[in-house]
Amino acid sequence: MKNKQVIIDSLPEGKLVESNYKLVDSEIPEVGSDEVLVKTISFAITAGTRAGLQGSASYAGAPTTGIVMNCTGIGEIIQSTNEDYNIGRNVLTQTGWQEYSVQKTQSLTLLREGVDPSLYLGPLGINGLTAYFGLLEIGQPQSGETVMISAAAGSVGHMVGQIAKIQGCKVVGVCGSDGKCKKLIEDLGFDAAVNYKDANFRQNLKEATPDGVDVYFDNTGGMILGSALFRLNSGGRIACCGVVSQYDTSTPEPGPKGIPGLLVNKSIRMQGFLVFDFAEQYENATDDLLTWIDSGQLKVLTDELEGIENAPRGFVDLLAGGNIGTRIVNI
Ligand SMILES: NC(=O)c1ccc[n+]([C@@H]2O[C@H](COP(=O)([O-])OP(=O)(O)OC[C@H]3O[C@@H](n4cnc5c(N)ncnc54)[C@H](OP(=O)(O)O)[C@@H]3O)[C@@H](O)[C@H]2O)c1
Repeated sequence: MKNKQVIIDSLPEGKLVESNYKLVDSEIPEVGSDEVLVKTISFAITAGTRAGLQGSASYAGAPTTGIVMNCTGIGEIIQSTNEDYNIGRNVLTQTGWQEYSVQKTQSLTLLREGVDPSLYLGPLGINGLTAYFGLLEIGQPQSGETVMISAAAGSVGHMVGQIAKIQGCKVVGVCGSDGKCKKLIEDLGFDAAVNYKDANFRQNLKEATPDGVDVYFDNTGGMILGSALFRLNSGGRIACCGVVSQYDTSTPEPGPKGIPGLLVNKSIRMQGFLVFDFAEQYENATDDLLTWIDSGQLKVLTDELEGIENAPRGFVDLLAGGNIGTRIVNI
């Protein structure tokens, strides 16, 4: 039996291309003390891992080639040397783009029994927790306020908007197509959605936010952040979650004009965060997220591909806006 893996063959120069990856067959690794062998079921393709290839996600270390592409996945334990992690249990871990991986037990999250495992790649996984803590802890929205979100039809974004609705906010999404805008309004209950590729984007954003913006959840940075700054009300908050507009390039642009001047004049708080900052609160957040999913208040959008060999294509396409919700690769 071999382990099919997708290796980073070269670092992207400019935009990521499929040929930056290589599919290989390797030996299945041996399990050591306090380790398990995980057979991957599915994994998520997420925008932030592109920052790792660029070196801009410094917590991920310097980008390098010849290693398995990293990602979070769910899998089944098929060998174990720790009796608390039995064969047959499903876990969430850094599977990477591969069929089998050896994991230290401390890197595993045991999935709750009776919960659909795939939820752990979206709302109950890194991106759902990012939406939850980024909005509630950093954005601190109050009922009646206006929350604006960029990459709003993506994995993190579509959950932020719905959590903001649950808090009683008015929600305005920004995304890259009219079709995505329609879905946000009609299927997820956003109050408005604006296509940033439209030539009248700034005017349309102004019309969609007649009361200004109190919380801007920033997944993109760049031009959309620059536009949001001019819509923010005094005392507004910007939750800096990511900078996807600047990941798929070797020449990222500097931040927009108006920083820090506009922040000063309107007493705006702009704060970055990493979801890992909130690790001690993950279990409570999971309880809330499950309650909202069960009640139908939080709809889960997934966008699924079949086969590990399709992961590179799926990633290139995600960066070009091809996904709605969380992109998942099923093995
Ligand atoms: N701080 C943390 O701990 C943390 C944790 C997880 C994720 N994140 C961040 O969360 C953000 C969203 O990640 P995700 O995994 O949920 O990805 P995603 O939103 O599902 O996918 C990326 C989306 O970005 C949009 N996009 C691509 N190029 C763009 C551009 N130039 N300008 C504006 N939008 C562009 C595309 O949608 P359109 O069609 O709308 O263009 C695409 O669908 C990323 O910035 C990521 O780094 C942060």
